Amino acid sequence: MNYFALIPAAGVGARMAVGYPKQYLPLLGRPMLRHTVEAFLRSPLIAHTYVVVSPEDGYVADVLPPDLAGVTVLRCGGATRMESIRNGLRLLAPMVGADDRVLVHDAARPGLTPALVGKLVAEAGTEPAGGLLALPVVDTVKSTRGGGVTTTPRDGLWLAQTPQMFPYALLRRALEEAPDPDAITDDASAVELLGLSPRLVEGHPRNLKVTLPADIRIAEMYLSMEST
Ligand code: C5P
Repeated sequence: MNYFALIPAAGVGARMAVGYPKQYLPLLGRPMLRHTVEAFLRSPLIAHTYVVVSPEDGYVADVLPPDLAGVTVLRCGGATRMESIRNGLRLLAPMVGADDRVLVHDAARPGLTPALVGKLVAEAGTEPAGGLLALPVVDTVKSTRGGGVTTTPRDGLWLAQTPQMFPYALLRRALEEAPDPDAITDDASAVELLGLSPRLVEGHPRNLKVTLPADIRIAEMYLSMEST
């Protein structure tokens, strides 16, 4: 069984508002996407890494030059994250077997490390329903659904991270069959809709998703620390 990484990097990063896609923001002087890709290039478990960018992306060739070993850029990004991933999975068909595992990881999570990749593969690498990194909720959770305010016990609640890892054929089927794919915010939810339970593997705060300008400093702090 082989493990492949698929990195959707075709977003525009509107909430970051920097005038270019946030995956190219410099973190410690290096573009965010390059940090993200390096976690997989440095992992001995990953057979190959595929990066999905939008067809008109004008930045990627500088960040991931064509002669960089172990990574292939796919210019098949779509209007939504799920569309980008579905398009990428279709292009992977000749290279990836039905039972090979695909680790889908957001370009916007540059704090990933080879150690976290290794932990996910060690704990869920052969799970038929796949698995994902996630963090236990530490805050008390309030809900305003239904008008008033209620409290949801945090016990048993997790925040999903990526990578999210599934058998190739299962992930393709889950995303192709999802009734409203663009309403789905992570790959695991599509698999759950098939009645399966992906395994949760405890991740790390350093694997945060860089979304708002304030996240840049936090990501740089983690990137300057030893690998976790
Ligand atoms: O915008 P957000 O941070 O939720 O995006 C998550 C990931 O999905 C990012 O790595 C982004 O580049 C990617 N994405 C994509 N295609 C889109 C929208 C987002 O590949 N159309």
